[in-house]
Amino acid sequence: MHLPDPMLDGDVSFERTIHQRKTIRSFEGKALTLRQFSQLLWAAQGITETGGYKRAVPSAGALYPMDIYAVVGGDCIEKMDPGIYHYETANHSISLVDKGDVRRDIAVASLSQMWMAHAPLTLVITAEYSRIMVKYGQRGIRYAMIEAGHIGQNIFLQSQALGLAAGIVGAFEDQKVIQVLGIKETHEPLLIMPVGYKR
Ligand SMILES: Cc1cc2nc3c(=O)[nH]c(=O)nc-3n(C[C@H](O)[C@H](O)[C@H](O)COP(=O)(O)O)c2cc1C
Repeated sequence: MHLPDPMLDGDVSFERTIHQRKTIRSFEGKALTLRQFSQLLWAAQGITETGGYKRAVPSAGALYPMDIYAVVGGDCIEKMDPGIYHYETANHSISLVDKGDVRRDIAVASLSQMWMAHAPLTLVITAEYSRIMVKYGQRGIRYAMIEAGHIGQNIFLQSQALGLAAGIVGAFEDQKVIQVLGIKETHEPLLIMPVGYKR
């Protein structure tokens, strides 16, 4: 499914988004628009070069070892069924990994941080180390983790600029998250970010 084109301008000052960013753990049930969803994915990993391949977030050697999975609840994003989706950077679209609302399962896999299950959208940032170790060896693991931090901050700031809020979770059982998402074993989850309207 192709996503709406990202906006390249906004209403809120950059400084204000930094000033107001904080980890939110309580969300309203209100649904997100497809445009908001699209914008968040673009900020996380979207291509920003016209006719090129470079992205919103830097990557050591431009090797891009990261993937973004979106966990969407029922009636949580306009025009979207509940499910797990993979962000396809190359053409700013999403593909369905599996149907169903797994927000509670992700929260349980995150040491039962059940507040997470109330967010309409949860973004999972994963790394596939082989894509970067090919050039940097063991050090590639460090680089991928640093890249996850860049993505996380972009999601935080983009959420804020859209009038939304985000949480960030590093405490989870990797294997359980992989199982719940039904993704490749080689896609190691590094950060989980619930996003929605702050309650
Ligand atoms: C790598 C990382 C992992 C984190 N893991 C969790 C987590 O599992 N659960 C949680 O509630 N907050 C988590 N946090 C959020 C921190 O608790 C939060 O950033 C910190 O309290 C500072 O608050 P602020 O983000 O509002 O400035 C994590 C933050 C980072 C950077």
